[in-house]
Amino acid sequence: MRVIGIESSCDETAVAIYDGDRGLLSHRLHSQVAMHQAYGGIVPELASRDHVRRLLPLVREALADAASGRESIDGVAYTAGPGLIGALLVGAGFARSLAYAWDRPAVGVHHLEGHLLAPLLEANPPAFPFLALLVSGGHTQLVDVAGLGRYRILGESLDDAAGEAFDKTAKLLGLPYPGGAALAQLAERGRGGQFAFPRPMLDRPGLEFSFSGLKTAALVALRGRVLDEQTRADVARAFQEAVVATLVEKSRRALLITGHRRLVVAGGVGANLALREQLRALGRDSGAELYFPRPEFCTDNGAMIALAGCLRLQAGMPYASAVSARATWELGTDLTTGV
Ligand code: KG4
Ligand code: ZN
Repeated sequence: MRVIGIESSCDETAVAIYDGDRGLLSHRLHSQVAMHQAYGGIVPELASRDHVRRLLPLVREALADAASGRESIDGVAYTAGPGLIGALLVGAGFARSLAYAWDRPAVGVHHLEGHLLAPLLEANPPAFPFLALLVSGGHTQLVDVAGLGRYRILGESLDDAAGEAFDKTAKLLGLPYPGGAALAQLAERGRGGQFAFPRPMLDRPGLEFSFSGLKTAALVALRGRVLDEQTRADVARAFQEAVVATLVEKSRRALLITGHRRLVVAGGVGANLALREQLRALGRDSGAELYFPRPEFCTDNGAMIALAGCLRLQAGMPYASAVSARATWELGTDLTTGV
């Protein structure tokens, strides 16, 4: 079974080819970051238009890289949600047209399912069941993963996602969009103990997160100060420490509650080195096995969508027959009905 995967939910256009026997054959990606940077954030209409321009060339390149003719493709997988609706519709319409022309099935994949399966692209993949910590720009969730398509959300952010908090705080620190990785770099030069940021939701039981207060804490910390390089780095470090401590502690609780022995970390913030290091320590303390995708598969990519589509088709799972895209779509619910 060989599947081509198409990702266009946000500001990356990505195409990849995954083979059930041979693994990942090719993956191509075009980032729109430079285009949106002038506006300080994503402009949805520009994102949609750029996906239109990029998809076909990327498909040609991915097929050429994989030395795979289109006749050897058994299915087309595409991100059906959640995400920017215009961007999703471009990918969904394109993927279904391709599938129609090639007389192959088209499978709509949940973007977060793609993220949480991404560690299966690596050499030592996790077996089901496992606990997943999903930390992206739009979502922060702890998910009980019983098997393919069997997901139960244990806790999520009540307001900003972790990546969103990174991006907003980065903006306050004068870093260009998307600031997550840049803030992490700045934090490396920060001194500990200069600022005390709150650890949101740690004083309460449960697995919910809240990150919107942290950017306010950053704003207060910066107020009335000379914004020299060292102060900015100190604030970045205090902010990152607060986010990481919260994510790690909630993951520790979720491992305890579920009894899972495997923890999968995925989504853009999963590329954060401080988070990876602290989660490794959690793994050592709790005896849980830790699984990360390589950093380029933490952030949005086509490989995770091709993989998810391939596993779904191999398992004979049902897929919708119409062009389907949903801006909001809860993980574990049906694409067409949302329940
Ligand atoms: O998963 P992703 O590529 O897109 C969504 O599905 O949202 O995640 C993007 C998010 C952005 O907020 C970005 O700033 C953040 O991941 N991010 C990071 C790092 N690399 C990307 N945040 C913290 N540290 C990083 N190294
Ligand atoms: Zn994502």
